[in-house]
Amino acid sequence: MDDLKAKYLTQIADAGDESALEAIRLAAVGKKGEVALKMRELGRMTPEERQVAGPALNALKDEINSALAAKKAALADAALDERLRSEWLDVTLPTRHRPAGTIHPISQVSEEVTAIFAEMGFSVAEGPRIDTDWYNFDALNIPGHHPARAEMDTFYMHRAEGDNRPPHVLRTHTSPVQIRSMEKTGAPTRIICPGGVYRADYDQTHTPMFHQVEGLAIDKDISMANLKWVLEEFVKSYFEVDGVDLRFRASHFPFTEPSAEVDIRCSWEGGTLKVGEGDDWLEILGSGMVHPKVLQAGGIDPEEWQGFAFGMGIDRIAMLKYGVPDLRAFFDSDLRWLRHYGFAALDVPTLHGGLSR
Ligand code: DAH
Repeated sequence: MDDLKAKYLTQIADAGDESALEAIRLAAVGKKGEVALKMRELGRMTPEERQVAGPALNALKDEINSALAAKKAALADAALDERLRSEWLDVTLPTRHRPAGTIHPISQVSEEVTAIFAEMGFSVAEGPRIDTDWYNFDALNIPGHHPARAEMDTFYMHRAEGDNRPPHVLRTHTSPVQIRSMEKTGAPTRIICPGGVYRADYDQTHTPMFHQVEGLAIDKDISMANLKWVLEEFVKSYFEVDGVDLRFRASHFPFTEPSAEVDIRCSWEGGTLKVGEGDDWLEILGSGMVHPKVLQAGGIDPEEWQGFAFGMGIDRIAMLKYGVPDLRAFFDSDLRWLRHYGFAALDVPTLHGGLSR
């Protein structure tokens, strides 16, 4: 019995995990374990022998059981200690690095513009950047022979021979979204559409891809006066100045009648641009009363409805507000430029919180 005891207590002491411990338990005090076998021998003993061996075997069994229990607890403690060691965490460490990226000024300005027009009841409409020449031109009263098609330096999509789908272009302006949203919502309507447009042009103030925001308001009695007020409100909010002089210059666009281009009073002093003062004028947008043919193309009865529209260069007004001298830098993906001109990711522009922080 001493041998048995020594053997199992050593095994228990050496057991590395719970399953080893369980194997020892079965071999020692399980139903068919060595101690049980010994118990069976009690029957063949004399009563005197049995009186000694019985209690001794029970004591052995108890001893092994409590050694097993103690070892089991010790293993659990060790496992917990190990977890506490390996899962240790220094909660005083700084949290993650600030996000390294910034919001691109074009995205920021699109958000600012959207916030301002949203306040005036305009919702945001979208259209495809690859559109048919019908949406981009014909529906906007620019028929095939019209010089405006050539002026816009259009990128045409490649057409395979025998392809008889309508010709597609990279939209040259956001104006096709006027038609698409008229078709979608009918009248009355009030939408803006900020988005990318494309023209084959490249210099300090032109890039082959740039951004516009289209505006369209249609109702029973919309007039040029409403257009003027909306644009003045926009410019005041956007440039965060109270007094702005806007100059409406008579102009021509095929899709508006009458048409006006809008300049904003500004000054260039020492190479910096100030909006709202000085003797210079800077063109920022084209606008006018929607041409009856355009309303018709959008499925709206020009006898019943009328409206104004405008198209503004987002990149242009971003350059003006944030003092970016070269448009091409917007699209160079130069990280140093982006860090300098970009905006913090969580500063969402709102009218009450500030537009341009
Ligand atoms: N689509 C014109 C352009 O890209 C801008 C424009 C002018 C849009 C007058 C308008 C508008 O909606 O009424 O040059």
